[in-house]
Amino acid sequence: MYQEGVKELVTIRVDGREIRAEQGALLIDVLLKNGISVPHFCYHEALGADGNCRMCMVELKGAKRPQIACDTFVCEGMEVNTQSEMIQKVRREILELELINHPVDCPICDQAGECKLQDYYMEFGLYESRLDTPKTRKGKHIDLGSNVVLDQERCVLCARCTRFTQQITRTHELAIVGRGDAARVATAPGRKLENPYAMNVVDLCPVGALTSKDFRFRQRVWFLDTVPGVCHGCARGCNIWIDHNQLKYETDRIYRFRPRINPAVNGHFLCDAGRLSYRAQNDHRSGDILAYGTPIAESEALSLVRAALSGARTIALADASLSLEQLAALRAFCGAHAVPLFAPSVTDDAFGDDWLRCSDRSANSAAAALLGIEQRYTAFTEALQQASTVLNFDHPLLQERADVAEAKVLHFASRAFEGEASAALRFPFAGYALDEGCLVNCEGRLQRFRRSLKQQAPHPTLLAWLHRLDATVPADNAGVWEQYLATLKPLEGVDDAAIPADGIALEGVGHA
Ligand code: SF4
Ligand code: SF4
Ligand code: FES
Repeated sequence: MYQEGVKELVTIRVDGREIRAEQGALLIDVLLKNGISVPHFCYHEALGADGNCRMCMVELKGAKRPQIACDTFVCEGMEVNTQSEMIQKVRREILELELINHPVDCPICDQAGECKLQDYYMEFGLYESRLDTPKTRKGKHIDLGSNVVLDQERCVLCARCTRFTQQITRTHELAIVGRGDAARVATAPGRKLENPYAMNVVDLCPVGALTSKDFRFRQRVWFLDTVPGVCHGCARGCNIWIDHNQLKYETDRIYRFRPRINPAVNGHFLCDAGRLSYRAQNDHRSGDILAYGTPIAESEALSLVRAALSGARTIALADASLSLEQLAALRAFCGAHAVPLFAPSVTDDAFGDDWLRCSDRSANSAAAALLGIEQRYTAFTEALQQASTVLNFDHPLLQERADVAEAKVLHFASRAFEGEASAALRFPFAGYALDEGCLVNCEGRLQRFRRSLKQQAPHPTLLAWLHRLDATVPADNAGVWEQYLATLKPLEGVDDAAIPADGIALEGVGHA
């Protein structure tokens, strides 16, 4: 965390290496950004320094005692040693203190494999325990609420979780109570950890004291494969890591979403609803094309759609969470067949807030607007009243509320939905975890997501279905960019194969 307004560059020496840094920058930031390992528990880029764990000690030339790097500001000529024998000894002693009352139950701890305490012990602890008195016992598996479970014995009292509820959500559910070896994290009397961002404390906790009820004991983290992605839970488009694994004799499944840092979108955090939205991507793997719940041949199903395309009263409805490429292809496909296309957003005012969560629950409304697709809900309902057939491309409205349409609905669906057994037609297509594409978030940031899951019996992608119905529609994203997107004004000059991990801000696009 840099001090505001300080820009002058200075030169410092760290372990004999010369480094240029901003005058007044926090030393721990400079060290970490330059790939120099500094053990730390309480410091976190999003929460700042607290100075309570003392793990980040470094030796500064001219200082009598070791100093904590999270409370030291860089100045010209500073000489830092992070590796001296004295520093290694200090770290080992502080670690020994942290572990005095720790249960050291790594084999049954869900944090094993991504635990800082475990890592630091292996890196420079490695001492024999000198303890011959019983350890202090504290609360185990305490249900804090919001899917979070606390093990007080594993806690190193870094106060990251309490600072999160004080500084970030300002909901103040958590506090450190008691003194000395009785100090522990607890909820305020009569309260539960209950806020829409509560599960972030699990990521913030550097040890296995706070774990996710949803994830714990379901996978060992070293078995997981990780892919960068973008949350589709609302128009914010928070950046995520998708952790998935294919167990023997099972299909590849997602086990969790974790925040991927992007200061321009979500910083270090996610909302709980978005974090848990991975579950929908594990559903619906049946490759069958269904007509009224019965599998039918692909050629027969495609004929039904072709007949609908030539009908005078056919309209199309697209989910505004489909990718930019899918929406562009649909626009061209519907335009070529004179089928009016609508992509109204799904809105939920109770969901939106003044931080990350948007009332617009559609992940790609800004892309639909960019493509000029009709988004007014009233325009769609008016057209629906006159329609005899609706081609529904994954819009939840007609999946969840079959009763709103008197017309026949032919569904292209990436997920299972309740009324699919009675639907006139249901084509399965690959959901976003099985496909790739771009989203434009509410602030006009173009972001790419990549395919994360492997699939044994692949569904066609939506583009593949459209291509089978009309060979002029490209069968892949590269073709869609070349044919429809490269010439769109806000996308001019964008190389779709080289969109950076943190996205690109599109000028004049987005609404928030
Ligand atoms: S529960 Fe975790 S985040 Fe909270 S104080 Fe303890 S170690 Fe730190
Ligand atoms: S704020 Fe929206 S995009 Fe971000 S995690 Fe929540 S649902 Fe997903
Ligand atoms: S990280 Fe510096 S004192 Fe905790």
